[in-house]
Amino acid sequence: MSQFPVLTIDGPAGSGKGTVAEHVAQTLGWQLLDSGALYRLVALAAQKKKIAFDDNSRLTELAETLDAVFLPCEEGSTEVRLDNKDVTQAIRSEDCGLMASKIAAKAGVRKALLKRQRDYLISPGLVADGRDMGTVVFPDAFAKVFLTASVEERAKRRFNQLNQKGVDVSLASLIIDIEERDFRDINRSEAPLIAANDAITIDTSHLSIKQVVAQVLAIVKNRQ
Ligand code: DC
Repeated sequence: MSQFPVLTIDGPAGSGKGTVAEHVAQTLGWQLLDSGALYRLVALAAQKKKIAFDDNSRLTELAETLDAVFLPCEEGSTEVRLDNKDVTQAIRSEDCGLMASKIAAKAGVRKALLKRQRDYLISPGLVADGRDMGTVVFPDAFAKVFLTASVEERAKRRFNQLNQKGVDVSLASLIIDIEERDFRDINRSEAPLIAANDAITIDTSHLSIKQVVAQVLAIVKNRQ
């Protein structure tokens, strides 16, 4: 067991875990690990270097040597850099998310990212968000949360986000993307998306971010 506490927040795409993790980490003054960003960075780097999705050894090597930097900015946001270039927006595209989900099914890539993820645990504590934070990466975390929401609600949230950015996309296509990603993340043999036995599940379908953050902070307070 580590000397510093870890709060894991796992869940499917669009469950709100990224935003919730950011707010909770800021309130607690803890480090933040957005593990999905690491998988997205490997996907983006593979695309840039034209590495094929079936070239497992080059993908593993890429994950082992990934030059990724997360720079905390004002208001709690983070700039993500790959090979010293700002890719904060580029890694958030639907395409990059789908590629990341394919690459994340590979055992070599997951193994390469495991130590890197554990290195984020420094004083005074860590909020780690992803798919396998509570099951594989930090199995002895002191508090574990699993966020869910209906596919329709998650697609609607993504639709509104993209609409605000002026991106033209249909709700129906987002539902298909999310279902495809869920299916792959849940059914892969390596660290599939599943709630840890000792995780507390929160259905966020009818909750605001503020309400979910309050519930998660209450869970942390209860454990302290
Ligand atoms: O959370 P996200 O949407 O940024 O994650 C992108 C993809 O990365 C997701 O579809 C599956 C993968 N992923 C994973 O396999 N394990 C994690 N801990 C985080 C993300």
